[in-house]
Amino acid sequence: MHELLHISNLNLTFETHDGPVHVLHGVDLSVGAGERVALVGESGSGKSVTARAIMGLLPDRRVRIAGRIGFEGADILREPPARTKARRGRDITMIFQDPMAALNPVFKIRQQFTAVLDRVDRRLTGQEAEEHMRAALRDVSIVDPGRVLDSYSFQLSGGLNQRVMIAMALASRPKLLIADEPGTALDVTVQQQTLNIMGNLSQAYGTAILFISHNLGVVRKFADRVCVMYAGRIVESAPTDALFADPRHPYTRALLASVPRLSSDRLPEPIEGSVPDLSKLAEGCPFRPRCQLSRPECDAPVPMRRDAGRSVACIHEASAA
Ligand SMILES: Nc1ncnc2c1ncn2[C@@H]1O[C@H](COP(=O)(O)OP(=O)(O)OP(=O)(O)O)[C@@H](O)[C@H]1O
Ligand SMILES: [Mg+2]
Repeated sequence: MHELLHISNLNLTFETHDGPVHVLHGVDLSVGAGERVALVGESGSGKSVTARAIMGLLPDRRVRIAGRIGFEGADILREPPARTKARRGRDITMIFQDPMAALNPVFKIRQQFTAVLDRVDRRLTGQEAEEHMRAALRDVSIVDPGRVLDSYSFQLSGGLNQRVMIAMALASRPKLLIADEPGTALDVTVQQQTLNIMGNLSQAYGTAILFISHNLGVVRKFADRVCVMYAGRIVESAPTDALFADPRHPYTRALLASVPRLSSDRLPEPIEGSVPDLSKLAEGCPFRPRCQLSRPECDAPVPMRRDAGRSVACIHEASAA
């Protein structure tokens, strides 16, 4: 599998009225062609900011960014903005948590979908575009594409809108689809159906997926590999089965332990403490204030230990080897 996206040592700071907020601290993240990688972690850990950086969707003036975001040999942070813009919506596309909010209520689905197709291929005739849209909607199991194209988003159910979003996001046969908590605004059954559709189609097209989710049950079924993010760093990355069978970072263990199990009548323990204030975070392991294993050495920068397709940033792992 060749590497499609390769982020190395990504650092990102927002300039706010209250001073700089250092949000990403040396993020390393790769996605292979056709691979499904899940990015998990608590609210505020930097998942969406990472996604927006890949898309080139962060405001220039208020953001300082360093490191490298490599995509098929190009460096997204150093190329002309026009090139990033041209890639967006064609080679890299994105779907969001709430399909209602992402679609424009003022235009019918047909107009919005046509605008998407225009970005991909301007030479399509009206008739060709219509056929393309109908086929794409049938691909996401919409049985009456004509009616859906004639509708406004607010006339459709959340599940239908989500399918429309998936059809639009995959219309260009992108190399990478970023799905930021897709469907968490929908009920669980509908969410599962739309994820299945997205998974099957992306497999058929060879589209890689960077899948951002809070739901570890979904991640386990969906992803080939999982990257665990905490306070703006990737603290552990492993193939999905290995991560669930043998989580190595104390934060990953705590995260897995906090998932409710149907077989248990006890509620799981939440992870004690809260995500640290990113503007005040010093060197060292970000999880140490909440970690039962923390030692004075955890105040020093933690090297990433890599072995057999896994990586983990914890001194206990390093000393255990
Ligand atoms: N425009 C901005 N200006 C200042 N800080 C920001 C901005 N956007 C995001 N942040 C901060 O960056 C951090 C990471 O935010 P991000 O949205 O990436 O988290 P997340 O992991 O996606 O969380 P969630 O699971 O809640 O979606 C947060 O502390 C957030 O407050
Ligand atoms: Mg987010």
